[in-house]
Parts: sequence; structure tokens; C-alpha cells
Amino acid sequence: MSSLFLQSEIENPYAFYQKMAEENPVYWDQTNKIWAVYSYEFCVTILKNENAHIPAFPPNNNLNPFVLKIITNLARLSDGIRHTIAKETAMVLFSNMKIIGIDAIMKELLRKDFPLNQIDWVDSVCKKLPVLTILKSFDFEEEDCHFIIQNIALLLKIMKPEKTAEETEMLNDLSEKIYVMTEENILKLPFYENLLHKISLSYTLSQEEVMSVCVSNLIGLLIQSYDAGRGLLSNSLLQFFSIKNNFQNQTDKIFIQKMVTETLRFDPPIHNTRRIAVENIELNGITIKKDDLILVNLAAANRDTDQFKNAMTFDIERENNNGHLTFGIGGHMCLAKYFSVHLATEALYYLFTHYNVSFLGNKTEYEPMINARLPKAVWISIL
Ligand code: HEM
Repeated sequence: MSSLFLQSEIENPYAFYQKMAEENPVYWDQTNKIWAVYSYEFCVTILKNENAHIPAFPPNNNLNPFVLKIITNLARLSDGIRHTIAKETAMVLFSNMKIIGIDAIMKELLRKDFPLNQIDWVDSVCKKLPVLTILKSFDFEEEDCHFIIQNIALLLKIMKPEKTAEETEMLNDLSEKIYVMTEENILKLPFYENLLHKISLSYTLSQEEVMSVCVSNLIGLLIQSYDAGRGLLSNSLLQFFSIKNNFQNQTDKIFIQKMVTETLRFDPPIHNTRRIAVENIELNGITIKKDDLILVNLAAANRDTDQFKNAMTFDIERENNNGHLTFGIGGHMCLAKYFSVHLATEALYYLFTHYNVSFLGNKTEYEPMINARLPKAVWISIL
């Protein structure tokens, strides 16, 4: 049984996850040579274990210094002291984001005349709103916003451990442009001097090194928000239209927020993340050996019946819906939990209060990805 599969190939991965959590919570996948962890308890144990690190990318001598700087400095990809510095920088950047009205961006995205008033929610909103919100919060110029929105999907290839020659070439070119653009923008930010001073003093880094960490992690915020933000916006709308849920007439903000939160547990955009054991790790009476790879199944943990009562039911009133593992836990936990819930709540509230919305699709197709479950398109009519 393979623990790795494309989400596009599986209609309902959740039945498989639940079975594995019950029968094989720590499973050795011989074909892919990876430990797959499915239960809530063991996923938490791995994510909090100091000996479970982020797997390093294999060396690639063809990547230019801009790509290498970004990869080396990203909080998401580092461990130890490099991670401490990167995470602190990412958090300072994040906490200094200007508050931007989601309404104004939604208005802009939905302003166009769509044929027959039919839109693909994924293409028109989900692929743009999260990244645009971050860019505008950091005062990026209109032209730069446009360039980054056009190219962000390509930039995400930076997170692939193995890159083809074509991807390497494309990333070299794109990363340089986006790196320079971001650096120029950071220099204009009012809190930049303080940030530079704080990080360089705390960790005795040169100003040039701190700049590199800042630029990389601002780009990191854009990268991290793209797929996950897109998926949350799409999956939440699909839950709204799910016949089983029968939510059609409920559009108040509290209701939407609860629905978004339960969507994060029930149908999360990100399904798994990976670690490598840097020492032997004991789990469920099994020894995960040093250098073994580990797949942490966050979406399976969210369906663990020991953690969530009636885990297979979408229930916005369940007491512990917020206890899902969709944002991870431990040192690498996502820093944008509240941002993401707020963004999706405001976007859906705008949609339902400005339009009469109906769902045009039937069977949802998913992107051919292993770690994320992202609808390719969600067609709706907005009148
Ligand atoms: C629905 C939306 C989101 C989901 C489901 C999500 C999920 C996650 C997960 C699972 C991790 C941990 C990965 C691991 O432990 O291996 C993570 C880390 C991270 N996320 Fe998010 N994320 C979301 C939105 C965002 C947004 C909007 C941003 C930026 C504004 C962001 C920034 C980050 C960063 C910087 C990290 C790395 C933290 C670290 O490694 O220390 N995320 N996210």
C-alpha cells in the first residue's frame, strides 16, 4: 500500500486516512521508503520532536545565488539557529503588515464583466487574493503586484526538492527579478531599520545577511500563502454548496467563520508535510531510524476519532474544531492561522452579501499534487 498518491487520482482520501489511523498509525511504506504517520497523537509527537528535521534539498549546482539565498533563508526550510533567525524575521515582517481591506481587493477582482456572469472562483479569486493581500500590506507598487501575481505559480517550483533543467533556468531568471523587487520594497518599509538592527544585534549577523533573510522570508510569505490560501478559499466554498450541509441561506459572518474553521479540519488544503529523523525516534513501540524519512499526515490526524467526535461529519458546532493540525504544530507551525481564517471569512462574506451566488459545477477535479488537495476549478454564477 502506497502512502504517496496524487490527490487528483483519489476521490475520497479520508476513508483511507481513517482506516490507517486506526490500523496502522505508524506505517512503513516499503515502496517509497518512508514512514507514514496517521494518528493525531503520533503526528503531534513527530512535529514536536527535536530530532525530526526538515529534509534538506539535494545539491543543485545550476541554481543561481538568488534562488540559493531564498532556499537557505526560508523559515519553512530550515532548522536549528538558522530557523530561529528566519522565523523571528518572518514573524516581525508578518506582524508589521498593514491592515488591508479584503473588500477592496474582492471588488477589484470581481469588477470585470464575466461572460454570462459565470466565474471560476479558483482562477478569479483564490489564486490572487491571498498573495495580493500580502503584497498590498507591504505597499508593493501596482506594477510589481501584477508581475508577482502573474508569476507566483512558477516561483513555487522553488519548493520542489528536485528541479528539472528547465525549472532551474526559469527559477534563476524569476528569482532574481522578484528578489531585487522585494529588496527595493523592503528598503522603503518604515520598520525596516528597526528590524535590521534587532536581528543583526541578536544574532551577530552582518546587515547584508539580515537583508537577505528579510527578502527571502518576505518572498516566503508569498510562497506559503499561495497554494494554502487558494485551497482554503476553494474548499470552504465547496462546503458551503455541499448538498449534505444545506447551508444555502446562511450568510452571517459568525456562521461563515465557523464553516471556514471546520473546513480546515474536514477538508484541508494541505494534507501532509515531511520530516527526516536525525537520531533514532521511538514511536508506538517502533524505532524510526536515523536518516529515515517521515510523512506526517495532517489531514488524517484531523479525522482521528480519538480526537474528534464523529470525525467524518462536517459539524461547525463541534467544540474542538479549532484543534485541527492543518497549520502544523511545534517549531514550524504556521504563523498565519488567524490571517488565513480572516481572509477566507471576509472573502466569502463579501461574495454572499454582494451577489446572488449559485454553484455550477458537479464533480470537482483536483490538482495532481501529493501534499495538497486543491480544486482545479470551482465554477459559480454571480448575479
Ligand atoms: C489555509 C492557509 C494555510 C495553511 C493550511 C498553512 C499551513 C502551514 C503548515 C502545515 C505549515 C507547517 C509546515 C511544516 O511544519 O512542515 C506552515 C508553515 C508556514 N506558513 Fe502557513 N499555511 C497557510 C497560510 C499561510 C499564509 C497566508 C502565510 C503567510 C502569510 C503562511 C506562512 C507560513 C510560514 C512562513 C510557515 C513556516 C513557519 C516555519 O517553518 O517556522 N501560511 N503553514
